[in-house]
Amino acid sequence: MSPKSAPPPRLLVFGGTGFVSRAVAAEAVARGYDVTCVARGTGGAPPEGARLLRADRDLPEALAPLRGARFDAAVETATLSLPWVRRALREVTADHWTFVSSISVYADTRTRGQTLAAAPLRPALCGDEAAYDPAADPEPSQAHYGGVKLACEQAVREATGDTAFLVRPGLVVGPGDDVGPFGYWPLRMARGRTAAVPAEDGADGLPLPAQCVDVRDLAAWILDQTGARTAGVYDAAGPPVSLASLLREVADAVGHDSLELLPVPEDTLREAGVRTWTGPRSMPLWPGPELYGALSRDVASSFAAGLRTRPVAETAEAVLRDRLGRGANTPPVAGLTPVEEASLLRLAAG
Ligand SMILES: NC(=O)c1ccc[n+]([C@@H]2O[C@H](COP(=O)([O-])OP(=O)(O)OC[C@H]3O[C@@H](n4cnc5c(N)ncnc54)[C@H](OP(=O)(O)O)[C@@H]3O)[C@@H](O)[C@H]2O)c1
Repeated sequence: MSPKSAPPPRLLVFGGTGFVSRAVAAEAVARGYDVTCVARGTGGAPPEGARLLRADRDLPEALAPLRGARFDAAVETATLSLPWVRRALREVTADHWTFVSSISVYADTRTRGQTLAAAPLRPALCGDEAAYDPAADPEPSQAHYGGVKLACEQAVREATGDTAFLVRPGLVVGPGDDVGPFGYWPLRMARGRTAAVPAEDGADGLPLPAQCVDVRDLAAWILDQTGARTAGVYDAAGPPVSLASLLREVADAVGHDSLELLPVPEDTLREAGVRTWTGPRSMPLWPGPELYGALSRDVASSFAAGLRTRPVAETAEAVLRDRLGRGANTPPVAGLTPVEEASLLRLAAG
């Protein structure tokens, strides 16, 4: 008689149909977990092999079907709702919790090279001021977002007696991301010819910073910590680099043979009405000084705790494949249109 094998660990993922949470669910399925995702299903399907419990978390009884169930671990990805997190902690039984927070919990986003231990936090928003109505305010402030995230962290810590893994990602990039600023660059580099990029140095005379984490590396790290029942707070970001070197790496990985990068001084970008960071008519990933700190965090403690990040070149290749595979010739959410870029290049040429 063959020995009875242990059942696979049961993982509950809040979300599972979106970007980060879907990558977590996919990684868990790949590791042989029994995965249940909780979402409305409007963001798409969960990864193959995971089951979807359809629930609208704005409804008070949304998690009723989970009462009495026991999970080995739960990964909460709630973005802007403290009540969702409180209810999940009350109604779901899991041996280990991960909360996906954000580096937006830090108050000082300007000072370069901060460590998690020394960085001041924003005030947590726990009361009525935490309420958020996306219909009224589609772009919450970083103070609001970070304040709610911090309140959620505190709720998780309290309910779990500080046994949870609290992870604060910076910019998450990779396949499946349709809204972030990184995705512009692989497509732009693959088109070739002269691409406008920000000139190397920022307003403080130092190279413009860049820092991101591939969603697959974040998911793998979360699953490692879930398996190890890790407790504690960690940032999740790749090594801090200069924006110029990051863009060069993307260009080397996926750039068309005809590609040339033309660094455009910040003054010229501003004169042309180009926006920083993201959105329409932006130079994606070009940070204003208010983001220099958020993009240059000292993440040595996360690497010491097992975080591993792949080269940006691999992320760029995967993003390009993903975008082209899904018919990516749709207008980018972030970046310059070819017409806008051509007019910027004319201005830069004087
Ligand atoms: N992306 C980044 O760069 C970044 C950086 C730092 C931190 N983070 C954090 O990472 C987490 C995941 O971010 P993400 O943008 O990638 O989100 P995501 O994984 O796409 O998570 C959103 C999930 O929530 C579900 N959802 C939304 N409204 C719901 C409702 N009313 N009831 C039930 N489920 C609902 C969505 O599914 P349905 O629509 O199918 O319901 C989706 O699966 C967030 O906490 C975010 O703050 C992200």
